[in-house]
Amino acid sequence: MQENEQKFTSGNVNYYIGQNSLKFLSDYLKKINRFFILVDENTEVNCLPVLNKILSKDITGDIIQIKSGEDNKNLDTCNLIWEKLTNFNADRDNLVINLGGGVITDIGGFTASTYKRGMKFINIPTTLLGQVDAAIGGKTGVDFKEYKNHIGLFSNPESVFIDPVFLNTLNKRQLRSGFAEILKYAFIMDPMLTDIINNRSFSEIGNDWGKIIHKSAIDKITVVEKDEKENGFRKILNFGHTIGHALETWFLKTDNPITHGEAVAAGMICETWLSHEFTGLKEDEMDKIISLIDKSFERIIFKSDTFDDLLSLTKQDKKVRGGSSRYSLLKSSGEAVFDIPVEDNWMLRSLEFYIMDK
Ligand code: GLY
Repeated sequence: MQENEQKFTSGNVNYYIGQNSLKFLSDYLKKINRFFILVDENTEVNCLPVLNKILSKDITGDIIQIKSGEDNKNLDTCNLIWEKLTNFNADRDNLVINLGGGVITDIGGFTASTYKRGMKFINIPTTLLGQVDAAIGGKTGVDFKEYKNHIGLFSNPESVFIDPVFLNTLNKRQLRSGFAEILKYAFIMDPMLTDIINNRSFSEIGNDWGKIIHKSAIDKITVVEKDEKENGFRKILNFGHTIGHALETWFLKTDNPITHGEAVAAGMICETWLSHEFTGLKEDEMDKIISLIDKSFERIIFKSDTFDDLLSLTKQDKKVRGGSSRYSLLKSSGEAVFDIPVEDNWMLRSLEFYIMDK
């Protein structure tokens, strides 16, 4: 896999990345006897027409529409998808095309992988977050009760098409949300990506989006290639996510939910501070990392009386082993380590740092 390669295979997955990479889709679908396109009400209006324009006229699939949003990433929506597939008489050698963001690729991958013991599926991520993270790496599943991604399986799509054409369909907040994961790759493994970002905020990236998406997608593919099932190394991708997930879950219960990226950006600030305390991240590197995050993300407002709730939410995380939370932290800017035990009082101090630091 080369830095600027548009079409390559890693593991069993074919990747098509870059401007106009969707042009490969028509030929791909000619070999499939029947396909279904999973959309939500937004991607049906904003993204399906883009896809239809690219596909030859004689290539059409049946549409399955679900409601957008994390609230709908649950077993009820799975039932609806399985019912539609059943009514369409879908067969195991048909294909599901997941056209959307992380919710669509998570639930679409899960329902396809479990329908009649497994149908083929491909991902066409339409959000920045999906393009650099959710659509890559085979994590599929749904939320269950209050637990995020509680039911699911590792199951790879046959192909992933990552075309920046869809970025035009996103609002600023959605774009910013994906940028948090891009910053994460820069901090955990990719100093070259830090150079390309060159101290810019997400709204200053301009013509470099294509390059930045390509580099981030390759970073994620490189990690999952080494550790598909998250037995070890893949955990570096969780940097910022232990505290980030707790914040995301806590705010979900309020009238002002925050995006995944906003939560991860806040989590990365706390966990950068923890990295300075625990894993040798130098102070000047910590300051640079935090100032780059602050360029794109305003600090989230929460008070110290929420800290205990946030702490117990980190305990529900799948990364907890034997009661003690294990964090992925930075050793230096561009290098991460994983499975670092962090005691509760340090987690609480990192929240203190976050709200006091500005
Ligand atoms: N989003 C983190 C992972 O796929 O492992």
